[in-house]
Amino acid sequence: MVQVIGTPKEIFEGEARVAMTPDSARQLQKLGYRCAVETGAGVKAGFSDAAYEAAEVEVVKTAAALWKAADVIAKVREPSKSELKRLAKGKTLISFFNPGGNETGLELAESTGANVIAMEMVPRISRAQKMDALSSMANIAGYRAVIEAGNSFDRFFTGQVTAAGKVPPAKVLVVGAGVAGLAAIGTATSLGAITYAFDVRPEVAEQIESMGAEFVYLEFEATGQDSSATGGYAAPSSPEFREKQLEKFRELAPEVDIVITTALIPNRPAPVLWTADMVAAMKPGSVIVDLAAQQGGNCELTVKDEKTVTENGVTIVGYTDFPSRMASQASTLYSTNIRHMMTDLTPEKDGQVFHNMEDDVIRGATVTFEGEITYPPPPPKIAAIAAVPKERPKELTPEERRAQELAAFRAQTRSQVSMLAIGVALMGLLGLVAPPSFMQHFIVFVLACFVGFQVIWNVNHALHTPLMAVTNAISGIIVLGAILQIGSGNQLVVILAAVSVLIATINIVGGFLVTRRMLAMFQKS
Ligand code: NAI
Repeated sequence: MVQVIGTPKEIFEGEARVAMTPDSARQLQKLGYRCAVETGAGVKAGFSDAAYEAAEVEVVKTAAALWKAADVIAKVREPSKSELKRLAKGKTLISFFNPGGNETGLELAESTGANVIAMEMVPRISRAQKMDALSSMANIAGYRAVIEAGNSFDRFFTGQVTAAGKVPPAKVLVVGAGVAGLAAIGTATSLGAITYAFDVRPEVAEQIESMGAEFVYLEFEATGQDSSATGGYAAPSSPEFREKQLEKFRELAPEVDIVITTALIPNRPAPVLWTADMVAAMKPGSVIVDLAAQQGGNCELTVKDEKTVTENGVTIVGYTDFPSRMASQASTLYSTNIRHMMTDLTPEKDGQVFHNMEDDVIRGATVTFEGEITYPPPPPKIAAIAAVPKERPKELTPEERRAQELAAFRAQTRSQVSMLAIGVALMGLLGLVAPPSFMQHFIVFVLACFVGFQVIWNVNHALHTPLMAVTNAISGIIVLGAILQIGSGNQLVVILAAVSVLIATINIVGGFLVTRRMLAMFQKS
């Protein structure tokens, strides 16, 4: 029997997103499933019941009927107790779940025997990027944070020189350059603001600078923290580091107009990085958008879910529903994440869930499975590989190095001499039977092959584009030679010349195409 994927209306106060759109339903149907939504589920995100019906999605009248009919329930917000009670053995729930802070939810899900996939637990590895809902939502939040800041900021972002006067550009500081931070940096720079960014991971400096922002460096000795060991997230910073960081922020506070904070380590309270005295030092009219408000906030004065204005005229935005404020876009991206998760869960495309706990991504995201809590998952294998320390090559003494070089040189000479001897012997044997004119051409041919091979084999990969130009030149010579020969009366020569022209031309055209593509990579669009 074909299974049903159902999406109920979100019951969380103010939530406007929906986990299935008419477009994603069409894709889910291609995996063999039937789709259903609760009536009105997509209205706040701009998807009417009629749009779902047009996509052959069954519109169900009540939440109870939907949870009953669906084998897989896809939703956005952490399920409530009453929703969890509707689960049963054999059903799969895919949703944000906050397993780290939702013990009652986990126990309830366990008792129902249902399998629960928590979208925030999808590991941040390349293969799982398309299912990474935390990233797709953080991307929206970062963008919206800048737009929201602009809404409360009564000046231009970009600098202008007008007849009415000169306008300086706004200065934006982004603290935490993860997914949300990078999206905020991209939006702020594209609006023309001077953007500064800070992160505890120095390796993001390059990404920040490539987006046109300036990385705020601290004069500090690296502590050797390795973020790769924590599954792609940063490790907490030391107290000394924090002190330096605060010192730098204090220095920047009077200068910046907009601060966007996104600094967070998963499942921990947000570190306080923008203290009350920094807020007091800011200019009136400045704006702080605190994306970490859900976990207590990076700014000491943030009020969760509220926009407040301080005595010195600084606006602090502590909303925790930025993706929901762009519900249509957020639903489109989230439903695509869900659809990719379903693709992983349906290897046969037969409308049947195959919950493969051997699959790294599925295992990582599953928090309850067949009546057992499977959270927290074992660390991702990628991290285990990254954590293996690299073996340092042994330091050699000068004598040992010389001996090694000598041995390598001898081995190389030996193999070259033996190859030459074999070549000469073969040539001699051939010379016994072949006519002298053939031998003359043949020797040139063999030498050309040898030289050509040596030249190409030893070229560094980085130089393959110029190499392509050289091979194009060689192909050109071949075409010229072949054209000279093509008029010869001998049919065999004509055929060989024609084949040479064909192959060399393919090489030339291919070479040009590849070179063009490579050059396009360096061109500004
Ligand atoms: P992420 O983990 O990709 O990025 C966080 C960044 O902060 C990392 O680069 C990390 O190195 C950095 N960081 C950690 N501690 C720091 C410190 N002490 N100083 C400076 N940098 C530090 O996380 P992502 O996905 O970018 O999300 C960022 C925040 O946005 C999270 O708090 C998330 O909950 C929040 N968020 C808020 C939404 C809202 O509506 N308010 C919606 C979506 C995400």
